[in-house]
Amino acid sequence: MSRESDLKRIGYLQKEIERHNRLYYQLDSPEISDAEFDRLMRELIELEAKYAGEIDVSDSPTRRIGAPPLDKFSPSAHLVPMLSLSNAFSGEEIIEFDSRIKRFLGRTEDIAYVVEPKFDGVAVNLMYADGRFTSGATRGDGFTGENVTANLRTIRSVPLRLRESREFPLPRRMEVRGEVYIRLEDFRKLNRRREEAGEPVFANPRNAAAGSLRQLDSRITSRRPLDLCCYGIGDIAGGASIRTQWDLRRALSAWGFPVSEHVRRVENVEGCLAYFRETEAERHNFPFEIDGIVIKVDSLDLQERLGTVSRSPRWALACKFQAVQETTVVEKIEINVGRTGALTPVAVLKPVRVGGVTVSRASLHNQDEIERKDVRVGDTVVVQRAGDVIPEIVQVVTSKRRPGSELFRMPEYCPVCKSRVVRLEGEAAVRCIDIACPAQLKENIRHFASRGAMDIEGLGDKLVSQLVESGTVRNPADLYRLDPEKLMRMERLAEKSSGNILSAIERSKNPPLEKFIFALGIRHVGEHISRILVKKFGSLDGIMNATEEDLAATEGIGGVIAKSLSGFFREPANRRVIGDLRNAGVKPLESAPVKGTALAGKTFVFTGTLPTLKRSEAKAMAEALGAETSESVTRRTDYVVAGESPGSKIDKARTLNIPILTEEGFLELLKK
Ligand code: IVH
Repeated sequence: MSRESDLKRIGYLQKEIERHNRLYYQLDSPEISDAEFDRLMRELIELEAKYAGEIDVSDSPTRRIGAPPLDKFSPSAHLVPMLSLSNAFSGEEIIEFDSRIKRFLGRTEDIAYVVEPKFDGVAVNLMYADGRFTSGATRGDGFTGENVTANLRTIRSVPLRLRESREFPLPRRMEVRGEVYIRLEDFRKLNRRREEAGEPVFANPRNAAAGSLRQLDSRITSRRPLDLCCYGIGDIAGGASIRTQWDLRRALSAWGFPVSEHVRRVENVEGCLAYFRETEAERHNFPFEIDGIVIKVDSLDLQERLGTVSRSPRWALACKFQAVQETTVVEKIEINVGRTGALTPVAVLKPVRVGGVTVSRASLHNQDEIERKDVRVGDTVVVQRAGDVIPEIVQVVTSKRRPGSELFRMPEYCPVCKSRVVRLEGEAAVRCIDIACPAQLKENIRHFASRGAMDIEGLGDKLVSQLVESGTVRNPADLYRLDPEKLMRMERLAEKSSGNILSAIERSKNPPLEKFIFALGIRHVGEHISRILVKKFGSLDGIMNATEEDLAATEGIGGVIAKSLSGFFREPANRRVIGDLRNAGVKPLESAPVKGTALAGKTFVFTGTLPTLKRSEAKAMAEALGAETSESVTRRTDYVVAGESPGSKIDKARTLNIPILTEEGFLELLKK
């Protein structure tokens, strides 16, 4: 491919991918499959890598995956301040607002308004110059916010390049205002995932959106389901002359910004009142949280004449919905044990109807939450459904507290398996770390048998569920004591496949020690840390008997990991399981694995485009055989594997006299 046609292709792919992003995220009408989309994306990533350093990719859709973390956010001043809205809570106040405006303008005829939902998210200011997204910030104090550009770039609905419009010529420069939020469905998925991963859950979508937008590491933001909706502008220079709020929304939409489909233009205050009533009645049917409506004078001329008073515009009003709250009594506090061992307290409530739905349970999230709200058994509490169906306890009615009530404490023992629970540093969750705890067993067995761990082929999710549910497998050691007859009787398991599984189990008895350590599923101990442990301590006993101080003194192992490790190996139930595994014939290879001798401990750097392998694949292959991989060539590099357009790394390798391999040479080395 010639350079010229590559560059053309890059331009085409960037545009095309953004078009598909828009179709998918804003218009909800994708034209191509996810797989096809991924193919386009991969092609673009590779092409851009080929011309790395030569072309500007700062607003390419490939940048939506995030950038290296920042130390802190820099301040970013808004060109036009971001005002706040005056609040109202009733229809009367809407009528007063309308009268105030007429009085101020000396008018008696009707005023037309634009009415819209009030999003419950995080306000942002997006800067565009010559149709390109240049920077973005949070609201901050209204004058200066935090520069969160890298994070905003990862949000698929933030347009990086604007579209031309015949009706509304693009301004040279403008600030666009909108709200970053998370849809309820995405919010629930996000929390479910966090719960499964043992991470603290977010209390509500707004907190989740705010927390995600304020990540110093934009790669984390890129994995959060953030959305954007635009409703206004700040500074604007050149381009379209827009005369009404309604046209502003049309222009934003034409330029490619996501706008709300729920916005209406009404002729007078009666229209505002009707919209307020309808939206309040519908609020629970919105796919995201709204906490009211916003009313804006439609004419921008009138907006200007009305001006602002004490940092709020006279031409706009937020009218909030009544929160749907009820009081009820906490009958007891139960503890749920999640799949990763996190203990979650849940208040069991005397059933009460809140906003049309019966509420009988509310999560109290974790120890900190309970302490903060001081919820006790027998307490009368205020429960609320905000825009959401997820009920929460807002506060305790302390005046109704029964004398003699006791502060709730998280249990010291797991309610499921009765082993002692721990609270790891920096975590909100108290968790059970017993590897054989029934609440976590399926997940632990799956992990134990998985590819990077004991690698037991054929032991899939379904079979694991059957084995655990039937009580056949109560801990990982039971896998090595399976009765062939019993296994065959398991649902849908033919003689042959049960034989295959048994021999796969048999074959897994001598894994490299690092895979065994990884298989134990110790919190914070992944493949990398497992390798470090084996290198430092050499044997299973060495690792098991290392003190927390020994562990923490190991290069690459921090205090949190050291605590987690020593806690795990101190737990008698876990020592018992390891003993059982040994008795069942599991004997990890304590010296370097035979298979990987040529590569074990060697450091590889991959650069350029390889002819057949993707870089990530080549890396994974090397790591699987015990090699380390790195991004930069240093004196400690053992091999550089170079493909087409390898860039400066190859020069460095030559200077340092480091062997340079082709893909072919690399594959040869793997075979050894
Ligand atoms: S207009 C000068 N429209 O409410 C007014 N704001 O209290 C500029 N908000 O910080 C805001 N939905 O975060 C406007 N449809 C909407 C909104 C909205 C939510 C938020 C925004 C702002 C706050 C003002």
